[in-house]
Amino acid sequence: MLQLKDTGFSYGGRDILKDVNLDIAPGSFYFLTGPSGTGKTTLLRLCYQALMPTRGIVRILDRDVRGLEREDIAQIRRRIGVVHQDCKFVDHLTMADNIRMPLQVSGRSGELDNNSFDDLIAWVGLSAHMNAYPPELSSGERQRAALARAVVMSPDLILADEPTGNLDWIMAQKILTLLIELNKMGKTVILATHDLQLIRAAKSQITTRVLRIVDKNVQLAGADL
Ligand SMILES: Nc1ncnc2c1ncn2[C@@H]1O[C@H](COP(=O)(O)OP(=O)(O)OP(=O)(O)O)[C@@H](O)[C@H]1O
Ligand SMILES: [Mg+2]
Repeated sequence: MLQLKDTGFSYGGRDILKDVNLDIAPGSFYFLTGPSGTGKTTLLRLCYQALMPTRGIVRILDRDVRGLEREDIAQIRRRIGVVHQDCKFVDHLTMADNIRMPLQVSGRSGELDNNSFDDLIAWVGLSAHMNAYPPELSSGERQRAALARAVVMSPDLILADEPTGNLDWIMAQKILTLLIELNKMGKTVILATHDLQLIRAAKSQITTRVLRIVDKNVQLAGADL
């Protein structure tokens, strides 16, 4: 699904990640953890080609990201759903239009009928909010809307960057449950978080692995979490 080989990334000469080796199998569920500023978001950005590695190799869905044409990148990105850390929406569009937007911009709006869309919205518990505008939603509702938008294209890989960051425990568990359900449907999930309680909650339900960024490198954490 996703391989990094001796991958490094630096912002303007400052190394953030060095010699990262990773092999994420299809259908797996990974947590990505590490203190603030260690490079979780940077690593996820490498995984959806918002950033190109400054060293080494990134292979996504069996394609080496080096030398990909713009159209190839667009095609690969359609198979990746991203829940961004800041989960921004277009404030003058309704939530329904915001969530449908990835389909619209890729010319696939005909692919999701109204019933399937309604099912998706009911699944995230936002049926009553589809005509509302983004500023009218609570943070938990916005996070669930961001998740719905990330999966509206039915991606194979879901990258969620601290999707429970500012939420209370009940809401955090709700988001986790949704991600676990997606994983059970065969989707590969990488969830960046520094919430150990969330990781423990997931471990009691499914097989997960925990990646930790230490000294600019990504390590597989032991069973001690
Ligand atoms: N556009 C940028 N230009 C220069 N440096 C950057 C840029 N974006 C991030 N950085 C730096 O790269 C480092 C890693 O940032 P990153 O956002 O990946 O960390 P993070 O682990 O996601 O942190 P957090 O838990 O706070 O979200 C930080 O020191 C940050 O200041
Ligand atoms: Mg981050």
